[in-house]
Order: sequence, then structure tokens, then C-alpha cells
Amino acid sequence: SKAHFGLIGLGVMGENLILNAERNGFSSVVYNRTYAKTEAFLAGRGSGKQIIGATSLQDFVNKLERPRRILMMIKAGQPIDDTINAISLYLEEGDLLIDGGNSLYTDTERRVIELEQKRFGYIGMGISGGAKGALEGPSMMPGGTRQAYEDVKDLLYKMAAQVEDGPCVAYIGPRGAGHFVKTVHNGIEYGIEQILAEAYDLMKRVDGMNGEQMAKILDAWNETEELSSYLVEITSACLKTKDPGDGSDLVEKIVDKAGQKGTGLWTVISALEMGVPVPTIYASLNGRVMSSMKDERTLGESIFGGPIVLPFDIGNPSNNMQPLEDACVLACMASYAQGLALLVEASRLHEYNLNMSSIAQIWKGGCIIRSRLLKRIQDAYTSNPSLTNLVFDPWFTKQINKRLPGLASVVAGASKAGIPTPCFSATLDYINSYRTSRLPQNLVQAMRDCFGAHTYERIDQKGNFHTEWIQ
Ligand code: 6PG
Repeated sequence: SKAHFGLIGLGVMGENLILNAERNGFSSVVYNRTYAKTEAFLAGRGSGKQIIGATSLQDFVNKLERPRRILMMIKAGQPIDDTINAISLYLEEGDLLIDGGNSLYTDTERRVIELEQKRFGYIGMGISGGAKGALEGPSMMPGGTRQAYEDVKDLLYKMAAQVEDGPCVAYIGPRGAGHFVKTVHNGIEYGIEQILAEAYDLMKRVDGMNGEQMAKILDAWNETEELSSYLVEITSACLKTKDPGDGSDLVEKIVDKAGQKGTGLWTVISALEMGVPVPTIYASLNGRVMSSMKDERTLGESIFGGPIVLPFDIGNPSNNMQPLEDACVLACMASYAQGLALLVEASRLHEYNLNMSSIAQIWKGGCIIRSRLLKRIQDAYTSNPSLTNLVFDPWFTKQINKRLPGLASVVAGASKAGIPTPCFSATLDYINSYRTSRLPQNLVQAMRDCFGAHTYERIDQKGNFHTEWIQ
């Protein structure tokens, strides 16, 4: 009999996803460009399972029941187009392809349209949770051909992480919606990672805490509704880990340059294009770029002199490092708020018809940004589906009012101490801008009108005005 599900690309993610599918009762056929890899998998992790191999794409397609359900776990970009072109020759109407990588959503938009014209189904599916998630239950964000989704729904439901109100997968929307949502998920991920790095930097440099002491704080934070999350949990694990060589904190041995593969950048580019402010996420991206300029920073420190750290109050273990906790809570909330606001705008522009509370639901388990806060976010959008920004949900409003002084004092202290806190600072500006009904951009308008006759509107009269500012 033929296999239910097919996988192209036996990398770690591909292997783990197919083992996940098999464990859930779905037989599979796997194909890899180099057959040796397929053989090795079938003799190793894939042995004794309902998994068979294929020697060519044609062989692969022949071994699948119809409609053929094919998951591609290969490098984003050209390899996806090449694979689509090669396999299309053997596909028949109604067969479907899923791209489970981190593809640029505009590429997915194009592919969905092209493949649907050929009467194939195409799904761009964000998958989050890393290697472990892929095996045990990831969070999945499929978008594209609706019928194709219906044809793989039973499989995805079983493979996904399960939370109290169901599996962490749902149809996201048409065309590139799934990959766009995954991209923004990653933007939020960048934000939270940088926020926790800033908290670590302050605890280390202002209070001289060591890995063990910091991990204890993270563990305490992980018990709270506001901060309990996967990223806080793994941060504690990272801080606790010792270098087997000399028993000192291993993180201190790691070069302070952060890499990136594209999704954070795409989030920021999309936000700028769509006119949605995402300053906390942008600050995290910028933080990575600054970090990578190690040589220039080293030169800078020798020229300007490193900061002389003036101590200030970041709290103490008995109060969970409040106000630092306040700063972390608000900055994490801001990352979610900005990412979700971007999704709301993208949904309007691209007619994705995104269901915001469903997106929060599928992020509650399996994915890298899973957190208890997402339940509050889900509730916020359930009670008000047209919420423009999380900051206006009553529960979040209360959090902001309660924690703003803490955030402000951390940013103030860090600035005086000369310690960069890009995400905390950006978050403070974001919130302060949000609570200022009159910003100084009236003057920007005046300048634009002065040098370029761009005109301006008045608060007291209707119409467009121009003034000869220079007599
Ligand atoms: C996930 C992750 C993962 C992603 C990297 C990207 O949700 O499992 O987002 O899909 O590839 O984390 O991050 P970098 O750009 O930092 O490499």
C-alpha cells in the first residue's frame, strides 16, 4: 500500500517531523537529494518504522497515496523553486506541497498563486520549536491553499503540540499568511532574547551577580504569570551551565556577536513598509548588528573609555529584582504588542483575514515564544477581535500603569551607568509615545512646509495650509 505522507529533505528538522508523523500513525516515504543520507536514516533512526525511502523524485511520487501530501524541509530560496519545478512534472491535480522552512513570505505568495493555477495545493507553513519541538510537537502556522489544509489537517493536529484548548496548529490564511505569521513570531523571539540579555547584563554589571545567582532570579520569574515562558526557562539553564574545562560560567566564554538568518530583519522591513512601529523588535535586531561589530566596539572602548558603572537600584533577590522585572515584563509585552499590531495591519493590507486569538492560541505551546502571557493575549483578542493594540486591553493597561515607573528607573539608571539597554529604552519610548496625545511632530510638519511647501493641517481649521515661513 502507498504511504500517507512524504518528506523531502532529511535534515534534523525533516527527520524529526517524519518520526513525529510516524509515531502518530502516518506512514511515510522520504526522499533526499543524496540517497546515501536516506539509506543512513532508514538504517538508523528510521529503522523498524512505517517509513520507506525513494531513490528519485518520480519514485517518491509513485509511492504516495492521493492526494499526495508532500512536506519540503529544505533550504529557503532557490532550492524550494528548484524542487517545485522538478516535482511538478510528476504531480496530479489536487496533490499538495508544504514548505515547512523559514521562507520569505512574498516568495510563498508567488508560489501559492503559481501552484494553484496548476491545480496543485501549496502551503507555506511556519514551524516553530526547534529540533525537539519537531519531534515531540511543534507549533505550526500553515497558510495557503485552503483545500490543501483540509487534506493535511488530521495529520497536523496529531503532530502539533497540544495545549489545554487544543492542538497548536490552525489554518492561518491565504497565500503567504502562514510564513508571514512565522516571520513575526521570530521577530518577537528576537525581542525577548535581547530583553533577557539586557537583564543579564544589568544583573552582572550593576550588581556583580554570577550565573547561579542570576539563574535563581530567572527561575523565580518563570513562576510568575507575566514572565513564565520557554525563553526565560532556557535562559536560566544557559546561565547555570559551567565550562567543563574550568568550572566557570560557560556563557562568559562565548563571543559576544549574535548571528541572524533573516526572519528578524524581514519583520522589521515589513513593519517599516507597512507603517507599523516595532521599536522593541527593531532594537533587538539592531542590537545584534551592533554586537557583530566587535572590532569597532573594541576600538571605541579604547577611545571613549568604557562606562564607569554607577550603581543603581535594580532590585534584589528578595523582591525578584523589581524594577528589573518590571522592565522585562513591559518589554516582553511590547514585543508581543508590536508583532501582533504588525499582523493586524498585514492582515488588512493583504486580506489575510487573520484570527488574532487563534494565532495566540497556537503560540501557547510548542514554539519558541510560548509563554503564559499568550493566554492573556488570546483572551484580549477573543473579547475584542478588533483590538488595535494590546496596550488598550484592560489587563495590559493595568500592567503598564503598575510597571512603568520600574521600567523608567531601569532605563534612567542604565543610561547614567553607560550600559546600553536598547530594548528597554525603545519600550519606554514606545509606551511614552503611546500616552502622549500631542507629540512634537507639528514642528516637523512646519519644517517640511518651510523648505518644501509640503503643507500642513491645523488643529483649529479644516484644509491644507502653506506659510511663507522665511520672509
Ligand atoms: C523557531 C525558530 C527557528 C529559527 C531561528 C531563527 O521558531 O523554532 O524561530 O525557526 O530558525 O530561531 O533565528 P536566527 O535568525 O536567530 O538564527
